[in-house]
Amino acid sequence: MSYGLLKGKKGIISGALDENSIAWKVALKAKEEGATFTLTNAPIAMRMGAINQLAEQCDAKVIPADATSTEDLEKLYTESMDALGGKVDFVLHSIGMSPNVRKGREYNNLNYEWYMKSVDVSAMSLHKMLQSAEKLDAINEWGSVVALSYIAAQRAFPFYNDMADAKAILESIARSYGYRYAKSKKVRVNTISQSPTPTTAGTGIGGFDSFFSFAEKMSPLGNATADDCANYVITLFSDLTRMVTMQNLFHDGGYSTTGISEELMAMIQGK
Ligand SMILES: NC(=O)c1ccc[n+]([C@@H]2O[C@H](COP(=O)([O-])OP(=O)(O)OC[C@H]3O[C@@H](n4cnc5c(N)ncnc54)[C@H](O)[C@@H]3O)[C@@H](O)[C@H]2O)c1
Repeated sequence: MSYGLLKGKKGIISGALDENSIAWKVALKAKEEGATFTLTNAPIAMRMGAINQLAEQCDAKVIPADATSTEDLEKLYTESMDALGGKVDFVLHSIGMSPNVRKGREYNNLNYEWYMKSVDVSAMSLHKMLQSAEKLDAINEWGSVVALSYIAAQRAFPFYNDMADAKAILESIARSYGYRYAKSKKVRVNTISQSPTPTTAGTGIGGFDSFFSFAEKMSPLGNATADDCANYVITLFSDLTRMVTMQNLFHDGGYSTTGISEELMAMIQGK
């Protein structure tokens, strides 16, 4: 069902790798809600080709950009404004990658070059996206930027490795840049802290199946799906949330404020 929440709005959606990606679902919903937008991903991710199928479905131009390169990002904004006929109203940062996680290096044996790469790709890229946008004055007043986070930014989750540090920085950037961008252009910046979700990035984390089912049992509403997340992102892109900024918003079925659930008690008691 469409509510026309993004009618007339223009945007940029990063991170749609395949149909499981959270960004993929956001693109489909944004289209349904009346937005026009460009799609972007790292040049290397283009090789998979799936994004072209999404682009066709959404009538969107694909603009490759490595989110760690300010040159690529400036090109992304310039080409997006050309393609869409003006400044954008929303930007989705749906980007995460840790070479240490990928290569199975534990937190007490990190490769520091890779650690820097994790932070650059997964956190500093949000700063680069915001700074490039502000320099080019590429986002309309009351525009909305959303990035995706995980609760390992606040609590220890041993398997989440250096991504936990990257997410803590990501959330801090949303606050710090959110303040500045609100003052200069009334642009809003928020992060959504999403439940474990079976995507390429999600399932790449060691023990994903176990923490997915732990979170499912812990959350009174169960885990939020990628589709649920996309719905929430759309509300943040819409004018219905104009005064929400500099927040980390938990979208997790109640997980973050539950101490223990009856299901987990029963499991521990062997029932
Ligand atoms: N899946 C989960 O359990 C979960 C939970 C909470 C938050 N998140 C976050 O959601 C976001 C989206 O991840 P997803 O779960 O949809 O997985 P995904 O693997 O589908 O998406 C991650 C995307 O990041 C892109 N990317 C990696 N390096 C890049 C670079 N240098 N430049 C541009 N793009 C680059 C990848 O190509 C991919 O499209 C990430 O920030 C992730 O950390 C995921």
